[in-house]
Amino acid sequence: FPCEQKEIDKVSVHVQPVLQPLRLSLDKLRDVSSRLHKGLVQGLGKHSHHRAAVKMLPTFVRATPDGTEKGDFLALDLGGTNFRVLHVRVLQAEQKVVKMDSQICVVPKDMMTGATQQLFDHIASCLGDFIASQELKGQTLPLGFTFSFPCEQKEIDKSILIRWTKGFNCPGVEGRDVVTLLRDAVRRRGDYDIGSVAMVNDTVGTMMSCGYKDQSCEIGMIIGTGTNACYMEEMKNVKRVEGEDGRMCINTEWGGFGDDGSLRDIQTEFDQMVDKTSINPGVHIFEKMISGMYLGEIVRLLLLRLSEEKLLFKGQKSEVLQTPEIFQTKFISEIEEEDTGLDNARRILTQLDLQWDEADVRVVRLVCDTVSSRSARLCAAALATIANKMRLNRGLDRLQTTVGVDGTVYRKHPNFSEELQLTVRLLAPECSITFLVSEDGSGKGAAMVTAVAQRLALHSASFSCHPEVRH
Ligand code: GLC
Repeated sequence: FPCEQKEIDKVSVHVQPVLQPLRLSLDKLRDVSSRLHKGLVQGLGKHSHHRAAVKMLPTFVRATPDGTEKGDFLALDLGGTNFRVLHVRVLQAEQKVVKMDSQICVVPKDMMTGATQQLFDHIASCLGDFIASQELKGQTLPLGFTFSFPCEQKEIDKSILIRWTKGFNCPGVEGRDVVTLLRDAVRRRGDYDIGSVAMVNDTVGTMMSCGYKDQSCEIGMIIGTGTNACYMEEMKNVKRVEGEDGRMCINTEWGGFGDDGSLRDIQTEFDQMVDKTSINPGVHIFEKMISGMYLGEIVRLLLLRLSEEKLLFKGQKSEVLQTPEIFQTKFISEIEEEDTGLDNARRILTQLDLQWDEADVRVVRLVCDTVSSRSARLCAAALATIANKMRLNRGLDRLQTTVGVDGTVYRKHPNFSEELQLTVRLLAPECSITFLVSEDGSGKGAAMVTAVAQRLALHSASFSCHPEVRH
């Protein structure tokens, strides 16, 4: 027992102070939320959006599904290390979006930072192979392209990349229209054709794919490799797009929150280090505190610091812990598993060749818990900001809404979703939020966006071709 007591003292006296800067009180989260609210308003403003850290990009998605959509679509999904091609069918009778088939193509790491043409030729070749394998050659199906990077959209089929995020950095794409790059690559091949194209962010796809099932789904959120959310904003607040009526989905790009220095007080030295050594320093500060691409690194840097201070692994100098990206984000989920977590920690530490004892195992779990919990609470603060804004926009005492969610961190971590939901309830007490995990959201959602766009186009065409319909 005395030995155990000594360990407890070591943790509370020496380890806790190192972790303390990562613990954010509810008051701090409220403060973060009010800063984000200012950021959202700035991003929506006609004259302020140029310098806004939170981009608030209009998506030209003006409606969520109404249940009458139908048809066959192709969908492309690029946003992480994999690229997917899907054939999707929207079945009106069953109110279902069905994935008919899909194919995954790996995007090699060097292609993520290589020449533009190489990347788009790869995309066109995967699409070509898929079309051939599905015997869809000769049919020109409408195509939804989920491209999960910040894009300035002029229309649903014109989407200019503002900047790469999440490990992508092909020079020469920023500032160019992604649809043109895709069409040019398809043309270079010359063996198949594509129909109309709708460009979609993954958050929008996620919202739209949940929206067929639950028509009150008006927020989409991703907590995976990156993090971001979109929501239905009142057109009168979207000052950059003509028109005052109805709503438009806004891709917030909340990952960029803090790029203007507004999160400096909560950024720890570990966050600063992660940012400094990333391929895009100074960009997507909020995302770097939250998402899967970075959480493992934050944990690694904390473990390194604790071992340097002789609070872990008997203070042995370990080359392992000096190796960037050696501690994968999925380890955090494994170590925090309720029943198997400690065993997983023992296995992972052994695999990493670290000389651990039982006290180390517990400290490592505490570090993982602190880092993932901060991530969940920061996401909750951001989501609460959006929900509160929607409620005020609509002049409601109470907002009832659904969030479509996707992303490995949200799905795979054992208590992330619970902590996030609990914290949102505290920060947005006048909102009742239902969380719906989206299956294959970004792919199916892209098809859904295309289907809704077709429905709206048909509707307005029937109005303009047959004016008598109005009588
Ligand atoms: C990054 C991208 C954003 C995307 C998010 C989730 O933040 O900039 O467009 O939605 O990752 O994949």
